[in-house]
Amino acid sequence: MSEAEAEAVGREEVWIEKYRPTSFDDIVGHEDIVERLRSYVSRNELSHMLFSGPAGTGKTTSAVTIAHELYGEDWQEHFLELNASDERGIDVVRDRIKSFARTSFGGVDYRIIFLDEADALTSDAQSALRRTMEQFSNNVRFILSCNYSSQIIDPIQSRCAVFRFSPLSDEAVEEEIRHIADVEGIELTEDGVDALVYAADGDMRKAINGLQAASITGSVVDEEAVFEITSTARPEEIQTMVESALSGDFTASRSKLDELLTDEGIAGGDVINQIHRSVWEFGLDDEQAVRVLDRVGETDYRITQGANERVQLEAMLASLALEK
Ligand SMILES: Nc1ncnc2c1ncn2[C@@H]1O[C@H](COP(=O)(O)OP(=O)(O)O)[C@@H](O)[C@H]1O
Ligand SMILES: [Mg+2]
Repeated sequence: MSEAEAEAVGREEVWIEKYRPTSFDDIVGHEDIVERLRSYVSRNELSHMLFSGPAGTGKTTSAVTIAHELYGEDWQEHFLELNASDERGIDVVRDRIKSFARTSFGGVDYRIIFLDEADALTSDAQSALRRTMEQFSNNVRFILSCNYSSQIIDPIQSRCAVFRFSPLSDEAVEEEIRHIADVEGIELTEDGVDALVYAADGDMRKAINGLQAASITGSVVDEEAVFEITSTARPEEIQTMVESALSGDFTASRSKLDELLTDEGIAGGDVINQIHRSVWEFGLDDEQAVRVLDRVGETDYRITQGANERVQLEAMLASLALEK
């Protein structure tokens, strides 16, 4: 959640929790994944699982839903959620796993441990985790969650059924936010829906948080409210900035950039992502689009390596303007 969103939501009940699905029927998109999970649950035969994919796509939700479907009301007794990057270290995580696996089971065959951010563990820590998984495999099923499965050591991957969560489709995001707006009685305009879907870019958490925050700050959730509260540039603004640079007008391009970074408080990395996402929709000729993408790649790399965002973005626009 952005700072503005957090501030707006304040003490209200958080919709990403209020509307988190607890049954397979309520999970939108991911049809293949849901079908596989249903079949595990209906046979009551869970293997260890690895959920990989970007934020806000339903990894935690799916794990919680499995527990609901398997255990019903008592699900919390049999489901432990841990974060692998617990700053107190892997030993603390292991101790909690051990005590959870040893307390009395009250009639169920196995319990579930959901370990979030497993890719934050070093490979040594993952090896230790693998041994713990073996040790308790009689009566504990592990569900690991990560952003990149390539960061998980092979011996763990080979013991898990791997599920790849892709960014949610625009249709799936739209369906869910329309549903929530409906239940909450929010006035949500069509351009507001489009803006939420665009800002979310496949991340349902972002879409729902954006909807909630925008609904608290105004009576109508429209495009303007959404772009402001989610710190997202309008696609037109991004396009104008890039086109000015490509036409050789560096000054205009730079002042647009300044507006985005300073007046609208948008992060440099987000500006880069937005250019990357929409460059094919600007109607540029192929050669121009290729030049932009080439610079975007370089700028993105430098920013992720810690270079000053504004300097890098200005340099990118300058180089596009120079090559005109
Ligand atoms: N496929 C989905 N269907 C319905 N809601 C979803 C879906 N994926 C995510 N959400 C919503 O977005 C929020 C964040 O999802 P979560 O499962 O926590 O994402 P992550 O993949 O980061 O673990 C959830 O609380 C839920 O309300
Ligand atoms: Mg999660």
